[in-house]
Amino acid sequence: MNLSMEEKDIIEGKKGKGMKKAMGLLNAVGKAFDAEYLVKVSRTHVALSAQEGDTYWCELLVDGGATCCVPCTTNPGWDVCSLSPYYAVTQDELSLVHRTYDVYKRIGAVMSLNCTPELELNVPSFGEIIAFSESSATPYVNSVLGARSNRESSVSALASAIIGKTPLYGLLLDENRLGTLQVNINFIPSEAYDWGLLGWYVGMHVGNEVPVLQFPDFPAQPRPEDLLYFGAEANTSGAVPMFHIVGVTPEAPTLETAFGTNIAKSTLNITTKDLAEIERKLSDEPGDINMVMLGCPHYTYGQVCEIENLLAGRQVIIPFWVLVSDTTLTIAKRSGKQQSLELSGVNLVAGTCVDQPCFKSFEDGMFITDSPKAAYYREGRGQKGFLVRRLSDCIEAAIKGRV
Ligand code: F3S
Repeated sequence: MNLSMEEKDIIEGKKGKGMKKAMGLLNAVGKAFDAEYLVKVSRTHVALSAQEGDTYWCELLVDGGATCCVPCTTNPGWDVCSLSPYYAVTQDELSLVHRTYDVYKRIGAVMSLNCTPELELNVPSFGEIIAFSESSATPYVNSVLGARSNRESSVSALASAIIGKTPLYGLLLDENRLGTLQVNINFIPSEAYDWGLLGWYVGMHVGNEVPVLQFPDFPAQPRPEDLLYFGAEANTSGAVPMFHIVGVTPEAPTLETAFGTNIAKSTLNITTKDLAEIERKLSDEPGDINMVMLGCPHYTYGQVCEIENLLAGRQVIIPFWVLVSDTTLTIAKRSGKQQSLELSGVNLVAGTCVDQPCFKSFEDGMFITDSPKAAYYREGRGQKGFLVRRLSDCIEAAIKGRV
C-alpha cells in the first residue's frame, strides 16, 4: 500500500491511538487485497450488532480519541424500552446493548438503528465510493443504485468512518463489477417473497460470483422491495454484494454490457420448481404456529400497507411482529396504519433485528416468516422450528394459529 504522508503519520500514532488502530486495519485490509492506495468515502454504514466483538472495537477506537469524520448510520440493535417488558433478557444482554448505544453515540454515529439505510437517510448516488456493512444493504447500493462499496464488515466500515477512506480494491474497480456468471430465469417473480427465494437460490449456487440475471421478458420494473429482498437473500446464502439484471439495473442495459470483457464462466437455469424446492428445504413440517416475524430486512411503508390490506380488519391470535425503521413507524403512526394494525393484533417495532436476544422467548415455538434470512439467523441462535412462506400465507397462519 502506498500511504500519503498524512496516512503514515496516522499509522505511526501521531493523531492518537484510536486513529492508529483504524488506519492499521485499513492498511492491513488493503495489503490483503493488493490495493495500491486508499480513496475517500462519502458515506458509511455500520452493522452495529450489539455483539461483544463489534462493541469492543468501537470502544477501542473511542477510548483512543477517535471520532467519525464520515458519520456512519447504524444497523438495528433492539429497542430496550418497548421490548424489555415482553421478553426475558438477562442483565448481561441489557448492559451490552446500553454499552453499545453509548459507545456508538460517543464515536459520532447517526443512531438510525435501521438495516435499510440505502432507502432512506443514507442514500448514495451512482458512482459514489462508500463503505457499507450489512448484507442486505451492500448488494442494493452496488447493483441497484450503482454506488461502489465492498462487502464490508462492521469493523472495517467503522474504520472507514473514522479515517474517511477505504482501500481501492474489489467492487470499487470497474473490472470487478462486470458479470462473471449468467443466470437464466424462465418466470417473472410476482412479489418480494419470490424475489427473496430466488436470491437465496442464486446465492447458494453462485458463491461469490457476480451473477447476471436474464428474464424471458420484463414488462415491469421490479419494486425496490423486490430488489432489496433478492440481494439480502443472495448475500446471506452466498457472498453476492453485486448482481446485474439485464434491462433493469443501471450497469446492465444489455447482456453484453453486463459482462463487458468477461466471458460467462457458466450458466445457471432456474425454474419455479427450484423455488418451491427451496421453500420446502428451508421449512419444518407445517403445524401450529407460535409467532410471526416479518421485516428482515426492515419492511417499508408500502409493505406495511400490504399487511393491512391482506388482514382486512381480521384478528391475529399469535404474537405478530413487523420490524421497521423509525421513519416507517412514524409515517405509519401519522397515517393511522399502526393503530389499525394494532387493533388486529399486529405490532410494528422500530430499531430491532431478528438476530437479537429479545426474541429468544420464542426459542421453543414454531415461527413463520417471509424471509429465509430471518430463519437463517434464528437457526444461528440455536432456535429451531420455522416455516418460510409468502406474506399472505403468514397472515392466514396468524389468524388460524396454524399452517
Ligand atoms: Fe435487518 Fe437484522 Fe434482518 S439487520 S436484514 S433484521 S438480520
